[in-house]
Amino acid sequence: MKPIHLTIVALIFFICELIASQTFAEKLAEPQLTIQAQGKMLTYPRSSLLSRPDLEKIVLNDIPTYPGKRIEYSAVPLFHLFQGMPIDPEATIQFRCLDGFSAPISSARILEHAPGRSIAYLAIEKENEPWPAVHPEQGPGTAGPFFLIWKNPELSHVGVEEWPFQLEGFEIKGSLRSTFPKIFPPKRYSQSSPEMRGFQIFQRSCFSCHKINGQGLSDFAPDLNLPKSPTEYFTQAALRAYIRNPQSLRQWKNDRMRGFSPEELPDPELADLIRYLEIMAKSRPGQN
Ligand code: HEC
Repeated sequence: MKPIHLTIVALIFFICELIASQTFAEKLAEPQLTIQAQGKMLTYPRSSLLSRPDLEKIVLNDIPTYPGKRIEYSAVPLFHLFQGMPIDPEATIQFRCLDGFSAPISSARILEHAPGRSIAYLAIEKENEPWPAVHPEQGPGTAGPFFLIWKNPELSHVGVEEWPFQLEGFEIKGSLRSTFPKIFPPKRYSQSSPEMRGFQIFQRSCFSCHKINGQGLSDFAPDLNLPKSPTEYFTQAALRAYIRNPQSLRQWKNDRMRGFSPEELPDPELADLIRYLEIMAKSRPGQN
């Protein structure tokens, strides 16, 4: 390449970088939450969220993101932010975090606002009053700018995976069955069967990291049915022990799965979850 061409290439690079850093700086200046549905998008800049009349103060003690801490959040009921969006009762809502992490949550669950149930809120971090770091040993990153929290989390047994933080936005998708048909147990299982209960637990506790039959949003962890299911290569006892405490079976410095205690996942629920994994292994596509 002639030197003049190199200069032009360098110049283009320089300009691109300048543009990228500028938009980045703008983003940093005013975080905003987006809510998307087919053909429709709502945008909520932080300042507008903080000046809403429905802003509340919610005090939470000892939640999974901030164990042992008592924090007062400024928060807006999440279902208020979805008003005016077309949402089918079967729809799933995917949240997206700043680091690209994305997972589905049931719309019925996060838009719930009946009395006697946990209610999801969007907590908004104020620029001059940052929350504590989530992993102080890894850096100063907080749960902000936006954090999904729950008022009275005990009422609907909100799980550890249901507190997504560093949120960027939500996207309304079709029904879970239309988006991920291959994670469903065969149709012969009724809603109240152990297999279907196990499937609900899988969605709540495992689906944010693990795929089934290649379907799911996360590439963070191995698929739990393809090419084989852990129910086929672990003994029942080893599988239970692994889910309770992965590091009790094997250890390495990069392991990223934490254990599920009996308080969080009682023994009967763990049994249902394993039933679900077993029948998914037996009905793997292309198998029968
Ligand atoms: C935060 C993400 C995350 C969640 C949530 C999670 N896992 Fe994992 N899981 C992993 C990762 C990552 C691995 C790979 C080993 C490692 O790095 O820890 C793994 C490994 C496994 C393995 C071992 C697979 C193999 O072949 O070695 C099993 C079994 C498993 N997970 C089951 C579950 C079940 C069941 C749940 C729900 C109760 C669950 N996991 C929830 C991240 C997660």
